[in-house]
Amino acid sequence: EADLESKLPLKGKKILITAGPTYEAIDPVRFIGNHSSGKMGFDIAKHASNLGAEVILVSGPTHLKLENSSIKLVSVVSAKEMYEACHQFFDTVDVAIAAAAVADYRPKFPATQKIKKTEVDLNIELEKTQDILASLGKIKKNQFLIGFALETENEIENAKLKIQKKNLDLIVLNSLQDEGAGFGKSTNKITFIDKDFNIEPMELKSKEAVAEDILNKVTKHFYE
Ligand code: CTP
Ligand code: CA
Repeated sequence: EADLESKLPLKGKKILITAGPTYEAIDPVRFIGNHSSGKMGFDIAKHASNLGAEVILVSGPTHLKLENSSIKLVSVVSAKEMYEACHQFFDTVDVAIAAAAVADYRPKFPATQKIKKTEVDLNIELEKTQDILASLGKIKKNQFLIGFALETENEIENAKLKIQKKNLDLIVLNSLQDEGAGFGKSTNKITFIDKDFNIEPMELKSKEAVAEDILNKVTKHFYE
């Protein structure tokens, strides 16, 4: 019988994880993207798998490789593809963790041919992408839903608003303030805020260690 002391406390649990950036096409050779490396989501996926969970990792473009072949990797490019992949699997999972840096806007009219340079400036009209996490929050039943929040001001207040807006159980607030933390770095400075607004600041640590902390929260959810 599994318990918190077990080496595989998440055996029998299915976890959906999003990772990486999304690329939104401007034309066939250009896109709008961001600096997300995918490392946070991949580290969460690896650790969840090591704890016995069945893992579906939906990732945007990244150079990262998975050594662990038991993780199901679903590679996507755009926010729309990530949305569709997540909705394909969400019904069947016990936990969803949204670590992807999804583009908030995409070109409204992506060009089918390479845009040629002209004598005048270029404006690109942008439209909103779907908020994947919020859409999962709307349809969630028993799933434990975890999101990230990247804030540069009014961090705690903004993160609390995201918990409510997206119907989350837990949010991982990412601070960019710290020199060693965030995009392209191997460390993160996070603060946990749960749906009852309990606030738990963590030390600056490696993304592997942050992944462990996040999965400790998941394990506790099932055993408390
Ligand atoms: N997210 C998502 N789909 C989007 C945008 C964000 O699933 N289209 C998820 C992210 O994966 C993250 C959480 O929502 O878990 C918060 O992302 P963040 O960019 O911090 O918040 P936004 O709601 O996009 O608001 P803003 O960028 O204005 O702060
Ligand atoms: Ca955003």
